[in-house]
Amino acid sequence: MAEEQVNIVFEGLLLPTHVHSEESLRYARERFHVRDDDVFIVTYPKSGTTWMQEILPLIYSNGDLTPVQTIPNWQRVPWLEQKTGKSLLEDRPSPRLITTHLTYHLMPKSFNTSKAKVVYVTRNPKDALVSSFHYHNLATFLDNPGTFEEFIQKFLAGNVMFGSWFDHIKSWWPRKDQDNILFITYEDLLQDMRSVLLKLGEFLGKQLSDDAIETIVAQTKFSNMRQNKMSNYSFVPKELMDQEKTNFLRKGISGDWKNHFTTAQTEHFNSVYSQEMKGVDFPFYKD
Ligand code: A3P
Repeated sequence: MAEEQVNIVFEGLLLPTHVHSEESLRYARERFHVRDDDVFIVTYPKSGTTWMQEILPLIYSNGDLTPVQTIPNWQRVPWLEQKTGKSLLEDRPSPRLITTHLTYHLMPKSFNTSKAKVVYVTRNPKDALVSSFHYHNLATFLDNPGTFEEFIQKFLAGNVMFGSWFDHIKSWWPRKDQDNILFITYEDLLQDMRSVLLKLGEFLGKQLSDDAIETIVAQTKFSNMRQNKMSNYSFVPKELMDQEKTNFLRKGISGDWKNHFTTAQTEHFNSVYSQEMKGVDFPFYKD
């Protein structure tokens, strides 16, 4: 497919046409009515979105596995800006769990005046980059990533889906102290899921029983999610996602970038990172 058919540009962001349209994006931005009890998962692509789409429904079901075993993740926690957003979300009973990759400035206009909550999941951008590179090789509806070196250049220039990682984090991070926004790192999820669940429970006003916590910790482990047909994208036809090449749930670790970046690439990435994040009080991922 030619590049112009693969992506549309919306407000300066490249977005795959397979699931986005000008209309779906305008609807999300201008007409979607945010409710006070909505909960958004916000991520830059490849930062742990699917993981959080498993965790939040389990918090809301107090550890009952039914939703994650019977409803595909894209219906369980629908994407606001995708073509299916309107039909899946508009009449959905509250509380709605909603997924988005939008930057703060592109959120629905009604978001600013609402009390809706946001769980923002961030991940080491070098790992998000590596994950995205492999994802581009597996998803036929995305453009060809080129070589790894070429993909690094595109990523650093923000010439990838949903634009620059730096712009994304810089749009959300200044809101970190708002009561309705909670930042979680992918690395914390890996290291100490229990503590994150307690934090999320408190933030969402959901007191989790010990049994529920045990169940959620087990269910959201990489090996279990990889087996879960409702979460591993195995329903998607091979023509769209060729999981024989690599699984959507690929490695599920932190630091895989070290297996991909050369020393020169690391130095270059770090220097762009320092420039981009200059003056931003963001304590993670400096090297
Ligand atoms: P890798 O490609 O590095 O394995 P997203 O859902 O935002 O697209 O992010 C996908 C990344 O999150 C993939 O990273 C995927 O394996 C990882 N992921 C999803 N569920 C996970 C889990 N339970 N544990 C660890 N990593 C997980």
